[in-house]
Amino acid sequence: MIELNVKEYSNKLKELNVDHYVVEHPYFKEVEDVLNYCKLTFENGASTLIFKVDYGYIAVIRRDDCKVNLEKLKKAAKTTLLTMATNKEFSSLTGLEPGSARIYIPQVVKTFLDKKIFEKKYVQAGSGSFTSSINYKTSDLINLPNSTIVDVGFIKSASDSILKSHYSILTGITPSGSGEVHIGNYLGAVVPFLELQKQADKVYFFIADLHALTTIQKRDEMQRNVENLVLSYLAFGIDTNKVVFYRQSDIPQHTELQSILNNITPLSLIKRAHAYKDKLQKGTNPEDINMGLFSYPILMAADILLYDPDYVPVGDDQKQHIEITRDVGGFFNKTYGKTFNLPDIFNMKESARLIGTDGKRKMSKSLNNYIAVFAEEKIIRKQVMSCFTDPNRIKATDPGRVDGNPIFTYHRLLNDDKKEVKDLENRYEKGTVADVEVKEKLFQAILTKFKKERELYSQLKTNPERIKMILQSGAAKARLQASKKMMEVREKIGITNKYSSFSYEK
Ligand code: ADP
Ligand code: TRP
Repeated sequence: MIELNVKEYSNKLKELNVDHYVVEHPYFKEVEDVLNYCKLTFENGASTLIFKVDYGYIAVIRRDDCKVNLEKLKKAAKTTLLTMATNKEFSSLTGLEPGSARIYIPQVVKTFLDKKIFEKKYVQAGSGSFTSSINYKTSDLINLPNSTIVDVGFIKSASDSILKSHYSILTGITPSGSGEVHIGNYLGAVVPFLELQKQADKVYFFIADLHALTTIQKRDEMQRNVENLVLSYLAFGIDTNKVVFYRQSDIPQHTELQSILNNITPLSLIKRAHAYKDKLQKGTNPEDINMGLFSYPILMAADILLYDPDYVPVGDDQKQHIEITRDVGGFFNKTYGKTFNLPDIFNMKESARLIGTDGKRKMSKSLNNYIAVFAEEKIIRKQVMSCFTDPNRIKATDPGRVDGNPIFTYHRLLNDDKKEVKDLENRYEKGTVADVEVKEKLFQAILTKFKKERELYSQLKTNPERIKMILQSGAAKARLQASKKMMEVREKIGITNKYSSFSYEK
């Protein structure tokens, strides 16, 4: 083997005027591990592929989130033969181990630089060693001998992603009810969401205000609900660097796509949808069911399909809507050619529903049996104090039951002072503590648990300009993707032609 060491390689790059630096890292054979370690994503990585062609070997440099269109490459490389070099061929040609390929390989006849590389200022690629990589200034790559820029790469659809850790998710939340968040929502929806945002590569999260119109037709109520939800989720710590957070109504492409999808959706499919069927079964007069409710699943399909997510995390009640989305997206793909990725349901472990303060039914805003997270202290105190406990316990000296007692359920889930919880449980069972003390301690525990979030909520509430900026920036990112997808849809269905001048505003 004729392996040049990394230092020599780096010197050679200097000679060629290719600005770069060497990044040392632990021994990694997988691109993904290197990128993860360097806190980069696939789009910031590049790999060298060696192909055998009519006149010898060529190198193709493409971004790690891209695939190569082989037909295009054949044309660009002016060759009829195009086969990927085997590991053996690769090693004997380059003197390097497969998987450690460098961008500059002097033994090849030509180096083809895929155009997408230049969308990034820097890319990271192999150094010939598994313990270091090289970060290149992309604009200098053209200085490599016998190199040309070609347009042969395309971004892999997320579903092609070989690696499970690279996926995108999308979910929406309807600002119905009052938009207020209670401890049931926190445990059942917010905590799982915060977990998900850590794991996923990309997250789209939006406030489905247009969906709320099916039930909310009062201007003030709509405004209040949306505000409550936005403030709450921001206060809980949505990572707006990673999460594209926006309002559905800020992206007109959702309704535009809905109206196109209407035409390929069989009526029978929608008639089977729960939201609509439930209302009918509950005896609502079909005349009183509005079209918004009826076509709710189609708007939801549009919400999703515009962004090609891999997964949609939803609760059980929404699963059917995702199946409808897959059906509708599938019909479109069949009619017009592959356009949409059909997402999978993200299997959220359905957390047990938190019992309400009435001790009977699940906590819900509509049942008014909840404890709010961001309400004023005196309201939260009242909600806690009115909580149902053990009905058989009349005096503080009566031994009480802890299991199935909502106040202790809340203590166990929210009071971080585990010693205090144990102590209260013991005393409750013995009959040496009053209900009011258990409740007062829960009230204090809730304030402690959400101290940071409550402060942030109040701060944000007094700063509408900041909220506006956050939502504006989310909408701008979402619109970019939505417009791109809609241009493709317009093109496929035939409403653009050589006379059309339409384009989406940025
Ligand atoms: P509400 O019934 O209070 O109006 P929503 O229907 O707005 O609540 O619920 C939003 C999300 O919060 C639901 O999708 C669910 O995941 C979660 N959630 C609601 N109530 C509870 C509960 N009692 N326990 C656990 N999670 C809940
Ligand atoms: N209908 C969903 C709910 O009420 C909210 C929603 C609207 C949604 N569009 C979506 C969820 C798209 C996931 C994906 O919970």
